[in-house]
Amino acid sequence: MKKILSLLASAMLLSSGLMAQSVKLPKPDMNRKTSTVMKAYEQRRSVREYADKTLSQQDLSDLLWAAQGQNRPDGHLTAPTAMNKQEVMLYVFDSKGVALYDPHAHTLTSVATGDYRDIVAGRQAMFKTAPVMLVLVADMNKFDSNNQHAQWMMGVDVGIVSENISLFCAAAGLCTVPRGTMDQKAIQQLLKLDENQIPVINNPVGYPKK
Ligand SMILES: Cc1cc2nc3c(=O)[nH]c(=O)nc-3n(C[C@H](O)[C@H](O)[C@H](O)COP(=O)(O)O)c2cc1C
Repeated sequence: MKKILSLLASAMLLSSGLMAQSVKLPKPDMNRKTSTVMKAYEQRRSVREYADKTLSQQDLSDLLWAAQGQNRPDGHLTAPTAMNKQEVMLYVFDSKGVALYDPHAHTLTSVATGDYRDIVAGRQAMFKTAPVMLVLVADMNKFDSNNQHAQWMMGVDVGIVSENISLFCAAAGLCTVPRGTMDQKAIQQLLKLDENQIPVINNPVGYPKK
């Protein structure tokens, strides 16, 4: 009974958008019907227009897990990172707010309420209405140095997470595009990031437009 009540509470909070506390996402569906890896590569492409439809909780859960969820008991993730630094912070922007994904607990924690998708869209205003926008922030504080090598490694790590998103979308019938465009300063301010926490790339995600 307790479990049912807590699941109901989570479902209500999630359906009201991204909320003011940590909410457990539904378990990633390891048996979901997706295309083969080869078909996903065949289908992978940049899509910049989406249907006017909110992402389901299960699709969001599976998407975040595929992006960089924990896939082994020792805390390692679906996405490799240099020296396992796990420096990529994944923020979810939607029409109701912004939340930070915790890959180990598979939860979303609200960090802002309100619609801030415009600062992720930046000068490409057509993205302002994407159902969700995943913003990948590199936390360089996790590296011992901020030298060129560390920056290269960070760029590769962020790129891998972004490509996980693209391939999951291609396999699961969702649409996305990796984007370097965004208002980095405004995002840093909103998320109260320090100068070593850099919004590097974002992936708007939605369903195909009919
Ligand atoms: C690092 C990177 C940054 C990108 N930035 C943007 C962007 O800011 N806006 C955009 O519309 N597309 C962006 N793209 C998407 C590319 O334009 C797109 O991948 C390219 O035209 C090839 O098309 P395809 O992805 O369909 O193969 C970016 C792609 C990458 C890999």
